Amino acid sequence: MLRDRYRDALAEGRERTLALVEPVAADDLDRVHSPLMSPPAWDLGHIAAFEDLWLCVRAGGMEPLRPDLMAVYDAAETPRAHRGDIPYLRRDDALEYLAAVRGRALTVLDRVDLGPDSDPLNAGGFVWDLLIQHEHQHDETILQTLALAEPGVYDPGRVAGSRRDRPDGSAPEAGGAIELAAGEHPIGDAGAAFAYDNERPRHTATVGSVAVGARPVTNGEYAEFVAAGGYGRRELWTADGWEWREREGVERPLYWTDDGRERRFDRVAPLDPGLPAMHVSWFEADAYCRWAGGRLPTEAEWEAAAALAPGPPRGNLDQLDFGPGRSGAFVGDCWEWTASELTGYPGFRAYPYPEYSEVFFDAGYRVLRGASWATRPSVARETFRNWDLPQRRQIFAGLRCAHDIEEQG
Ligand code: AVJ
Ligand code: FE
Repeated sequence: MLRDRYRDALAEGRERTLALVEPVAADDLDRVHSPLMSPPAWDLGHIAAFEDLWLCVRAGGMEPLRPDLMAVYDAAETPRAHRGDIPYLRRDDALEYLAAVRGRALTVLDRVDLGPDSDPLNAGGFVWDLLIQHEHQHDETILQTLALAEPGVYDPGRVAGSRRDRPDGSAPEAGGAIELAAGEHPIGDAGAAFAYDNERPRHTATVGSVAVGARPVTNGEYAEFVAAGGYGRRELWTADGWEWREREGVERPLYWTDDGRERRFDRVAPLDPGLPAMHVSWFEADAYCRWAGGRLPTEAEWEAAAALAPGPPRGNLDQLDFGPGRSGAFVGDCWEWTASELTGYPGFRAYPYPEYSEVFFDAGYRVLRGASWATRPSVARETFRNWDLPQRRQIFAGLRCAHDIEEQG
């Protein structure tokens, strides 16, 4: 029954959230680790407040459990840089709030009608899927924060179910490509399962004749760009990208050291040339492609290529490997920057609230496609659109390079 599936999925999602933060000291959950990110305890309280708002209040008709907290956990009200200064619940109180809201939400689940003729939020379970996806997404956000934290804050080996030391698969394939014929390609949610408003409506997009790399750019390939002086060659960068690079003094990806190693949480190890290059900004991804004689794919090209890719579309490792596998699976282990700016598809309608997507449209955010090792599988779908500002590097993101195919004349 649908009801049982949601009860199980809610429980499974919560079990994962709690497992991920379990090894973190209370003090470290409660404090700010980076001005780019909320304190992890804020994310925990926010998961609870969002659940109370959408499941208990909006879908279930109850009064909020903690009306006093609704503003504290409204992401639109306080930008991340100021979240350390507002009265968010510290770890133990946040965990209690999560449990109390969940108890209420389950009483709502027991009594609401999930049938197709129910109210729009409950019909087909829409809002229940929304809440499950929301918690999954904040798990990834928390992992970004813990990756930025000083070594010693987080030991992923202590997470229940951690597969951190699992061998990372077979050698990468030589760089093939997925060729798209010029023309119209269907893009967006086909309506088979849950999707966000920004994935709709399905429509056709025009793409050129293009070869999209069969796998994300590897550390080995990216290291050649660095060694070739790519970070010092003005002509490879956009004006904004060059200005950012100079201002920040950026010379390599976020977690690379100056002696050829890479930090991942509490460990620093020699760069593995077969893994995807990660933690680059859109500016760096764009410059790399120019150096390689190509360009970033548009999101329409990315999605059209994903539909043609052979093999299982979902290659992600569901968080517990705490890092990517060999570059090669199509929807892989890192988000991939695209050339596209986040905007609404033709005919877009905000649902169920404009703050999920619409407020970010046409504001300079770039779209990332795919999924990362930190993404839960139900979020990793070919139509999913992620986004961030072009200077951001904390996302588990790399890139795929595309090359225009010259028409034979
Ligand atoms: C889609 C990842 C950009 O974190 O801002 C979480 C997801 N939205 N809560 C974000 C989200 C509301 C969103 N991203
Ligand atoms: Fe949120």
